[in-house]
This record gives sequence, C-alpha cells and structure tokens, in this order.
Amino acid sequence: MSDPIDRLLDAAESGKSIIQNRDILHFTYMPDIILHRNSEQEQVTQSLLPILKQSRPSNLLVYGKPGTGKTLVVKKVISKIQERVEKSNFPIKLVYSNSKEETTLYGLLVSIGRQLGLEKEELPTTGLAISEVFKRILEKIDQNGLNAIFVIDEIDYLAQLVSKTGKDILYQLTRANERLKNGSLTLVGISNDLTFKEKLDPRVISSLGEEEIVFTNYNVEQIKKILEERINEAFIQGSVEEPALNLCAALAGGEHGDARRAIDLIRVAGELAERQQSEIVTEGHVREASQKIEENKEETSLKSYPLHEKLVILAIMKANGSSTGEIYTSYKNLCKVVGKDELTQRRITQMLSEIELSGIISGRLVHQGIHGRTKKYKLTISSEMVKKTFKDDLTLQDIV
Ligand SMILES: Nc1ncnc2c1ncn2[C@@H]1O[C@H](COP(=O)(O)OP(=O)(O)OP(=O)(O)O)[C@@H](O)[C@H]1O
Ligand SMILES: [Mg+2]
Repeated sequence: MSDPIDRLLDAAESGKSIIQNRDILHFTYMPDIILHRNSEQEQVTQSLLPILKQSRPSNLLVYGKPGTGKTLVVKKVISKIQERVEKSNFPIKLVYSNSKEETTLYGLLVSIGRQLGLEKEELPTTGLAISEVFKRILEKIDQNGLNAIFVIDEIDYLAQLVSKTGKDILYQLTRANERLKNGSLTLVGISNDLTFKEKLDPRVISSLGEEEIVFTNYNVEQIKKILEERINEAFIQGSVEEPALNLCAALAGGEHGDARRAIDLIRVAGELAERQQSEIVTEGHVREASQKIEENKEETSLKSYPLHEKLVILAIMKANGSSTGEIYTSYKNLCKVVGKDELTQRRITQMLSEIELSGIISGRLVHQGIHGRTKKYKLTISSEMVKKTFKDDLTLQDIV
C-alpha cells in the first residue's frame, strides 16, 4: 500500500495539473479585455472625465445584478485615470473601498483616509468620533486642494454599517463638496441591490444619483465568450471539453448572466478534475462543481444565523410542512432542551419571513375556512445538510 500523502504529492509532481495559472481564475484578477462592456466602460469614463480637467465630476451610482462586471469596469477606469494622473502632476486622488469588507463605518472611513494619505497620527484606527474622522478627511482634501473620487463598492452594505449618526455622515459625504473651499469630492457608489434605495435616506440617494449607469445582464452566449477567454489563459490548451464549457455558460447564464458564477464553476470543476487525476474537465465535473458550490453556500448561510434562528430552522426540520403555530410549539420545546428563554410568537413569525428571504425555507399561505389563514413552512435544503452544519454547534448538539 502506498502512503496516501506520497500518492497525492507524487500525482501533483508528475505534472497532471490542467490549470496552468490559478490566479487568472481568482476573483481579483483583472482581465486585459473586458468583453461586451464597451458602452459601460465609455459611460463610466465619460462621467469621470472632468477630473482630468480638474473640475468636479457628478456623483455617480452604478447598478446591476451580481457578476455583471461593475467592480471590474469601475476599477479599470479608475486605474487608467490613475496611470495618467501619475504622469501629470495634478492633485487628483482616486480611492476605492468596499463596504462589505468593512465591519464598521469607522473602518470604511479610515480605509478611505489612508488612501488619501492620512497617516496613523493624523487618523487613528479607533477612538475618534465619526464626525471628527470625517472632518479630518475633508481637511486633507481642502488643504491639498485635492480633486478626489471615492468609489464605495457594495454601497448597500453601508446602510447596515450606519447608525443614526452614521446616516447623517453619509448624507454629509454626498454633499461634502459644498463644504470644500479648495479641491472637490465625487462619490461613486456601486450596488447590486436594486432595492437599496429604499434603505437609504432619500436625500442621500438624490445627491448620490446625480448620474446613474445600469449594467444589463449578460446572456448565455456572452457568458460563454467570457469563459472561453478565461479558460484559454488559465487552463492547458484543450483540457476543457466543449460540453463542459456549454454547461457552465448555461448554468451561470440561466438566471441573470453571472460571470462570477461562471468563473467559479469552471475553477471548481477544474480542481475536481485535477483531484481525480483526469486530464480533461468534463460536463460531469461541472455538475459536481455546481452541487459543491450550492452546498457551500447553504452551509455558510446556515452557520451565520444566530441561535434562535437556528432553533427555528431545527423546529421546521422536525415539523416539516407545519403551520406557524406548530413550528412555534416545536421551537419552544427546543428552547427547553437547550435551556434558553423563548422569544415571543410574534418575533418568531417575523423571523420565519426573514429566513424565507434567504431561500433556506419556503412558505405557503393556507386558508383554513373560518379559522382564517396560516402560513406553512418547509425546508428547501436537505435535513442532512442542517444536521451536518449544526452538529459543530455545542449548544445544539443535544438536539441534532
Ligand atoms: N465582461 C467581462 N469580461 C471578462 N470578465 C468579466 C466580465 N464581466 C465580469 N467578469 C468577471 O466576472 C467576475 C465578476 O465581475 P465583477 O466583480 O465585476 O462583478 P460585479 O458586477 O461587481 O458583481 P457584484 O455586484 O456581485 O459585486 C470577475 O471575476 C470579473 O473579472
Ligand atoms: Mg462587485
């Protein structure tokens, strides 16, 4: 019997890898050519052009479904402008930040401040009031007469970061320009949540959305071209079968044309093929990859729930297809088992609607004659998945 570790190391060494450059499949990789997005690249560039003439571009809001190339296009425009700026001596500053990657509004502002050139002494990582952080950022712009563009990616997450005082900061940020004597500030917000406008202050939206650019969905054919391009660069020639490519494009293009999903799929399929020491990526590998990605997503979202949400999910699992009342009874029992105080039925009813939004459970309104109507819920994922994920949770072990 060969050693299991050696066997894998041997296989890796014998060079049966079919992915020749993994980085190209990473989400941060910027391809040289951005396909199907000429008009969007032009629109974003047009909108930011005034900065090169040292006047202030309008605030800009970029919208579109996930994986439609928003981050890619905006980053590329910004980096091209940056290249030119470095050659000239214009006091122009382009700053990129992502609200989803920050856990607090403070963190987001500090990340912006650092890119503007504010050192730790001028802008400490903790301890100041938000309004003070904001003031120092504006002072920096003012004193140096900077023409600044702040890109705030996944700006919808900002709504979650901001507290009451934060909300006001966001408003001030969009209006900061009015407070500057020297220099200027333009905000570029990017969002894939088309309803996020409802979450933000309407005043913020109206000043942020001075200009708006919408990224349309890719179709299956376009996704296929994007994939082909990426596969050519990342994989060994001829190692991805045509049917595998087609399936990837179909799966990712099916709903709304998500290029990220397509690239993830082919990457995972490639890794699975390598692990099985296959020299080609087949349709089967793509199917397996798709299943694996789905399961990972379910697992991550299950894990991220707080305790009472988890108890509610378990209650549904035990009483699958039950009414809200029955689920509540089952939930109360589970609370006893784990020794926690139960929440009110009203709160649990609300929680059920929230969990339903994530797609892990689905609800159906049922009319019960004179008794009015009730909603019945069932799991949309397997109970094995729930058990597997929750069994690591010490509090829940007894139940699972
Ligand atoms: N037209 C394209 N040509 C080549 N690659 C693309 C194209 N559009 C998107 N991609 C690739 O697809 C992935 C997702 O693109 P991007 O991150 O720009 O999406 P997004 O619109 O910002 O999505 P989200 O709203 O989820 O942040 C990236 O790896 C990107 O390189
Ligand atoms: Mg993005």
